[in-house]
This record gives sequence, structure tokens and C-alpha cells, in this order.
Amino acid sequence: MKEQILQALSSEYPWKQQLHFFREIGSTNDHLKAMARQGAPHGTVLIADRQTGGHGRMGRSFLSPEGVGVYLSILLRPNCSPIELMHLTCAAAVAMCDAVEAAAGFRPGIKWTNDLVSGKRKLGGILTELGLGSNGQTDYAIIGIGINCCQEEKDFDPSIRPIAGSLAMIAGKEIDRSRVAAAMMEALQKMDRELLTGKEAMLERYRTDCITIGQEISLVRGDEIRHGKALTVDDAGALVVAFSDGHTEAVNSGEVSVRGMYGYV
Ligand code: BTN
Repeated sequence: MKEQILQALSSEYPWKQQLHFFREIGSTNDHLKAMARQGAPHGTVLIADRQTGGHGRMGRSFLSPEGVGVYLSILLRPNCSPIELMHLTCAAAVAMCDAVEAAAGFRPGIKWTNDLVSGKRKLGGILTELGLGSNGQTDYAIIGIGINCCQEEKDFDPSIRPIAGSLAMIAGKEIDRSRVAAAMMEALQKMDRELLTGKEAMLERYRTDCITIGQEISLVRGDEIRHGKALTVDDAGALVVAFSDGHTEAVNSGEVSVRGMYGYV
């Protein structure tokens, strides 16, 4: 698959030498974190055909079966403080919408903050992790993305069948995973170029793609569930919610999980 991905990349893509492909790995994010600590360069990308320990936010597992998805992590070393990267997951999500549109012919939505969705189905997710240097500046940022590409509905476990989807199911055609992977890499490289200078425009695009805005939602924080309406996403990527008790609050993705009132989205 590595050769096919390299062929699908444009001649201008600058990080071709930094692509590493694995038939099987625990988690591309975990492995890349270890490589980052040993000095791997900006632009290093790991892609696996299968993950045995793929994971997402809040300790959730991300099922990564062989040959049907793209499981990719990229290492960036932006020269800035972690505060300036509050919007990183949003930027990656918009980049992934661009990539899916280019490779599969439709644009998914974003369920705040980090899920790619179509209708009621989750197509993929994003896990962003930062490493800090001793001076408090950003040492590295790792963006891990998993996208279901080729599954049919019956391939998903019955417990998630109504709410899981793949690019092939939504596009109604066969999906070439190498093209998807190449489109993801190109979109992430473009995102990196504009990360610190194009923040306002990127957040506007995020708000357009984000299906959570305008919805009645329930917000789960530990044992507590609160209901409200999602108003917008602020400049730090937080969800601004008008709660039914009259309070309006910006909530951060680290601590909460959001559900539509009538199901997953
Ligand atoms: C989520 O749904 O909460 C995020 C899922 C992120 C999964 C990707 S797959 C590649 C990378 N490796 C991991 O272990 N996680 C990310």
C-alpha cells in the first residue's frame, strides 16, 4: 500500500521520505509519540493496515480492522505555545472533510469536536495529543485519524451498526484507501502551512461543517447530564451552549461528551 500512496501523492508533497507504513501496529499515535521523543522530524507520518490498540478520546477504543480503513498519525513541530494550538483538532477536522471530499466525492459533517459523520453515522474520528518541552513550549503535536473506508453495514458489530458508517456506504461506490490516505496527507500538509496564519478563516469553515451547531444537545460530564442548545464554536474551539437553566457556557472537549437529544449525532 505504501507504493500506491506515494504514487497518489502530488509531486509537490514535501514529506514523502517521512512516510512509514505498518501491516500491524498497536496504535499509530502511541508509536509516533515514542518516535517524537527520539527526535523524529516535522511531517513524519505513520499509516497502519490494522491497529490492535487503536484508541480515541477519553480512553475509548477505536476499532481498526485490517484492510478496510485508513489509520494515520502525523507529527508536527509547530514553533509556538500550546495555547496557540487550541484550534488544532478543529483545523484537522476541516482538513479531513476536504480530504474525504477529494477522495470519495462527498463532504462529511463534523460532530463537535472531533468526529466525522454523515447523517446519523460516524465515519471516523480524530485524536490530537501535544507534547511540551521543558520551557513550556510545544515540543510536538500528534494528530491521529481513523476513517472507515470500505466496510458494509454488516461488517460493523451489531452494537454500533446503526451509528457506524464507511465512505463506501455513503458514496455508494468502491473506495480506494490509498487515494484516501494520500488526500489526508495532502490536506494535513496544507493545514500545517496555514495553522498559525489562517486561523479565523479555518474556524469559519469549521462552523460551516459542524452539524452540532444549532442542535438541542445533552452534555455528559462524568455522572452529570445537562441539556441545552449549541450556539456556536468559539475561537478556542470550545462549544458555546445555552443551557436550559438559562446559563450560557463555553465547554471544552477534554471533559465532556456531546449527544444529540435523539441519538449519537
Ligand atoms: C475518536 O473517535 O475519539 C478518535 C479516534 C482516533 C483514531 C485514530 S486511528 C489512528 C490513530 N491511532 C490511534 O490509536 N488513534 C488514532
